[in-house]
Amino acid sequence: MAEFRLPKNSRIRNKGETHKSETNGKVKNFKVYRYDPDSGANPRYDNFEIDLEECGPMVLDALIKMKSEQDASLTFRRSCREGICGSCSMNIDGKNGLACTTAIEDIKGDVRITPLPHMEVIKDLVPDFTHFYAQYASIKPWLQTVTPEPSDKERLQSPEDREKLDGLYECILCACCSTSCPSYWWNSDKFLGPAILLQAYRWLADSRDEMTGERLDELEDPFRLYRCHTIMNCANACPKGLSPAKAIAETKKMVAERQI
Ligand code: SF4
Ligand code: SF4
Ligand code: FES
Repeated sequence: MAEFRLPKNSRIRNKGETHKSETNGKVKNFKVYRYDPDSGANPRYDNFEIDLEECGPMVLDALIKMKSEQDASLTFRRSCREGICGSCSMNIDGKNGLACTTAIEDIKGDVRITPLPHMEVIKDLVPDFTHFYAQYASIKPWLQTVTPEPSDKERLQSPEDREKLDGLYECILCACCSTSCPSYWWNSDKFLGPAILLQAYRWLADSRDEMTGERLDELEDPFRLYRCHTIMNCANACPKGLSPAKAIAETKKMVAERQI
C-alpha cells in the first residue's frame, strides 16, 4: 500500500553543518542531502559554500570540489563526467538529471541536491539500485535467437532496421525517468517502470531478435506494462532526450495487434 509520509527515521530533523568557502569569489550555496546509516541519525541538509570562480561549470564539478576540499565523507556516484555512464543521476533543484551535464549557472539561487526520489538511500546521494537492476535482468536484455548462427558473418541488419533502434539504444539506465514516474513510485514492486520498459522495447524493435512472442507474453500483465498511465513525466525527465512513454505505447500496440 502506498505510504504518503516518510518513515520516522527518514524525516529531516537535524540541523546540518555549514562548510564555508575559503576564498572570496562569487559564492553559491549548495544544500546537499546527507544520510549516514552508520550514525543512526536522521538525514540532514548540509550547506556548502562554493566559490564559482574556483570551480568547474557543472554541478558534478561542485560536488567533487566539496568532497576534495570540504568534506571527504560526502558520497555520490560518478564515472564518465560526460553524460555516458548514467552514474551521477540525482535530483537537482527539484528535477532529476545528471550532475555532470547540469550547468550550475542554469540554477537560480541556492542549489538543492537530493538522491533520486522514491529509492532507498544507501548513503548521502547514493540510492539502492538493486531492485531496478533485478527488473532490468528480468527482461532478458540481450539478443535471443533460435535460428543457427551464420558461420561466416554476424547476424546482419539493414540500415532501415538499424534506424528503428535510434531513440532506444542511447539509454544509459540512469533511472531519472523511472524515479520521476508516479506509477513507479507507488507500484515499483510490480510495475517495470519507464526505463526498463524502454529497454524491453529496444529488443522488441530489433529485427535480429527472435523471441518477440515470448517477450510480449512476459510483459502482458496488468502491472508490469499497464501501470503506465501516460503521465509523460518520464520523457520530461530523460537527460538523453528519449521518450520511454513512446516506447511503452509502441509495446502496447504490439500486444494489441497480435490479438487481432
Ligand atoms: S508515461 Fe507512463 S511510464 Fe512515463 S511517467 Fe507516465 S506513467 Fe510513468
Ligand atoms: S530512458 Fe532516459 S531517463 Fe530513462 S534510464 Fe534511459 S537515459 Fe535515463
Ligand atoms: S558521470 Fe557519467 S553520466 Fe554523469
